[in-house]
This record gives sequence, C-alpha cells and structure tokens, in this order.
Amino acid sequence: MIGLTVLVLLIPSTYCKEYVFPDNFKFGVATAAYQVEGAWNTSGKGENIWDYMTHTNPSSILDRSNGDIACDTYNKIKADVQLLKNLGVDFYRFSISWSRILPSGKTDYINPDGIRYYNELIDELLANDIKPLVTMHHFDQPQPLEQEGGFLNLKLADYFEDYADVLYKNFGDRVKDWTTFNEPTLVCFLGYSGEFLAPMITRKDGGYLCGRTLLIGHAKAYHLYNKRYKNDQGGRVGIVHDIFWFEPRTNKIGDIKAAEAAKEFNFGWFAKPIFTQEGDYPQIMKESIARSSKLEGLSKSRLPQLTQEEIELIKGSADFLGVNHYTTFYCSPIEDDTIERGLFYLPDMDANCIVDDKAESSATPWLKVIPSGFRKSLNWIKEQYNNPEVIILENGFSDAGNLLNDCPRVNYYNRYLTEMLKAIYEDDCNVSGYAAWSFMDNFEWRSGYTQKFGLYSVDFNDPSRPRTPKMSAFVFKNIIRERKINW
Ligand code: NOJ
Repeated sequence: MIGLTVLVLLIPSTYCKEYVFPDNFKFGVATAAYQVEGAWNTSGKGENIWDYMTHTNPSSILDRSNGDIACDTYNKIKADVQLLKNLGVDFYRFSISWSRILPSGKTDYINPDGIRYYNELIDELLANDIKPLVTMHHFDQPQPLEQEGGFLNLKLADYFEDYADVLYKNFGDRVKDWTTFNEPTLVCFLGYSGEFLAPMITRKDGGYLCGRTLLIGHAKAYHLYNKRYKNDQGGRVGIVHDIFWFEPRTNKIGDIKAAEAAKEFNFGWFAKPIFTQEGDYPQIMKESIARSSKLEGLSKSRLPQLTQEEIELIKGSADFLGVNHYTTFYCSPIEDDTIERGLFYLPDMDANCIVDDKAESSATPWLKVIPSGFRKSLNWIKEQYNNPEVIILENGFSDAGNLLNDCPRVNYYNRYLTEMLKAIYEDDCNVSGYAAWSFMDNFEWRSGYTQKFGLYSVDFNDPSRPRTPKMSAFVFKNIIRERKINW
C-alpha cells in the first residue's frame, strides 16, 4: 500500500510538471514602428533610414517590399487595441518613430500629428488596462541625421537625448516603462560594419563608433529622466539587448574560448559598460580588437576607448534589462578552416559561429529551435550581472506562409516559456515579464514580408490589412489566462 502511494505521487511529477507563473509576472506582445505603422509620409512624418533605403535601393529587400503601408497600425488604433485586450496582455511593447516626432531628427520642429498619434495610442491602451512599454529607437533613425554620419557621429548622442526629452515631456505622464535602444549590437554591427541592416555602411570601425554613440546617447537619456522627470513621473528607463546563446562546437579549448568571445561581443559589449561596476567594454573584446588592429598595421585599436568620464556616465544607467532571445549558435575559432563561415562571424572577435543544421528550423535561416539556450542565457546573465531584473521583450518564431494552424510556433512558445520558467523557479533568475514577438505579421527588415512572426496573420494583399488570429494567439491567450504551462 505504501509502495503504491509513493508510485502515485511520483508518476505525475515525473511525467508532467506544471509551472505556474509568478503572481506579479507580466505578459505582453511586441512590435516596432517601421515594421507595422505604415503611413510613412503621412501628416508631417520625416524620412527615416528604412524609408530611404527601401525607396532608393528596392533590391536590398528580399521581396522588394517596404514599410510604406506595412500593417497600417497607424490607422487602426482602436481595432488593434481590442485585439490586444482580447489576448489579455498586461503590456504592449511598441516603438516610437523618431521621424514621426522630429522629422529632421532634431528639435527644430516637433510634428504635432506625431504627438497626437502616440497620445491616442497610449490613451487607448490605458483605457483598456494595458500598459505601454515604449522603445525610443528600433532601427529607424531619421535619414537627415545620416547626412551627418548617422551613429558614427557622437553628436547623435545629443540629438537622441533631445528626442528623449520630447518623449518624456509629452508622454511621460502616462508611459512608465521606457527603453532607449533596441538591440544596439545589431544596429551597430549590421548597420555600420555590415550590410544586413540600414544604412548598410561597411566600415571596420563603424560598429564600434556607433556603439560608443549609442552607449552615451542611452546614458544621457537615462540621466535626463532621473534629473528632470523621475520625481514627478515615477517611471523607469531600461535598454533592450539581444542575447543569442553560444555553445562551443566541441569541447576543444579553442571552441570554448570562441563561444566565450562571441558572448562578450554580442551581449557584453553593451551590457558590461551599463550593468557592471567596471563600466567598460569586456576585456576580451578590448584585447582581440587591439590585436587585430595591430595586425593590420593600425597605430591604435579601432575600438574607441571610453574616457573615465564616459564610463562614469554609462555605469549603472538602467533600471532594468530588456532582453530579446531567439536562438543558439555553435562556435569555433576563425582559423579552424574546416568550418565554413557561419552567420555569426566577426573577424575581430576570432569566432565563427554557425547554426545547427540538424535543429528544427524557422523560415529565418539563423533561427533554429533550441529552447535550452534560453535558460542558459538567463543563467549567464544572472551570474555575470548580479541577477538584474530582466524583462523578455522579444522571443518568437517565423514561418513563411499564412499558416493559421501554426503548430511549430505554438511548440516554440511552449518550449521556450518552459525553459524560462525553469530559469525562474529552479535557478532563481530574476525575470519579471515576457513579450512575444510579434503581435502580428510584419515587415521583417531585409527579408520583407517573407518571414512571418505574428500571433495574428495580416493579409498584405488586401488594402485594409485584415488581421486573423492564428492558433498561437489562442494558445498565448490561454497561457495568460491560466498563468501556467504544463509539460
Ligand atoms: C529582433 C528585432 O528587434 C525585430 O525587429 C525583428 O523583427 C526580430 N528580431 C526578428 O528577426
């Protein structure tokens, strides 16, 4: 009898475990202005780098499309907020288009229609009990600032601070959660040292110059809030970093080192200066860039040093850490020429990181389904950064068609959320919220409309852009309502 009782108690916990989300855990969905808004030149909006690139160089986009109309969220505030309400989310993460607020990028003219649009969106969200979580920059700086060098020019840190000031002043009475930049590593490496994102500048030092501008711009916007607005408005300011997980390809020491280097170049680059006491770039990054600069005969490292004053400005300049996580790469050193060049390859970091061809794939070549990397990433953040408050601000899966019966996406969410919950309950990682990417199918940057990440499908052939919930929307809604996952 005793034996039977023990068996009955054991079976359920061995075969099926139920994790309930913590009481104060918050759920959201995410979008970004250029990917969904459309209305690219409506009511005084200025041109941004994506308007410019897609119009002047249409073949830079896989299907030669652009975000001129996108999902037309600009004209659908009420209907979209009802969809959000129906999902039951606590917050909606969206970004503000810098060019819609400041067409020239500077404060010489503040576009009243831009202010009106975001006021209406914020008010409608709040009227429906949904908190806005706002990103100030999601890949789409104003094109006129590119004439001044874009983020290669440190002056843009000041323009960004001025822009942030306009946002706090106009929306800060109602917006309490701000993030400055989305994925600065990708903005800089892929935009200023690579060809994957606008403005497609390819300078070897471009990424690092851009990085310094973003770190300083972020820190200035953070301190401005604290000095001028925090008392009255009582909100908080964070930043959104992308974190991939990097595994060594084998247990050879070279592969282990390559994976460590990749983590620092991907995440430490922006996180170490902001979230650690040293307040500087990761040591491994400084050393390997100095080494490769020297090999090329440069008199000094192409990584611009942060001055002590800059270090003090940047250190501690975030109230929380926004994190985007999608997938895992496998790394080896660059000199291992038995491995072909992978998708995460940076000569300066001496690492070549490839995807796992055997893992389940999404429609996005770099996005393989490897849920365990999510838990590992969260643990790494906990260990390296003293367990800061983390809010997951993107996680999601793409497919290629208009699949309403999107089982692979449902599985992705179940499996990744499970790993996140293990990180919370079993490893004590301090994760307070989660936003799915994305609320609806949208313009996936250089891949145009060929990769769909939405919980809602959007018919881009129909001028009224109707939305239809996919199976994943129902499942996500259910997870939010039940506040638990079983596996
Ligand atoms: C991260 C970016 O922030 C977002 O804009 C993009 O659509 C997703 N990754 C998927 O690639």
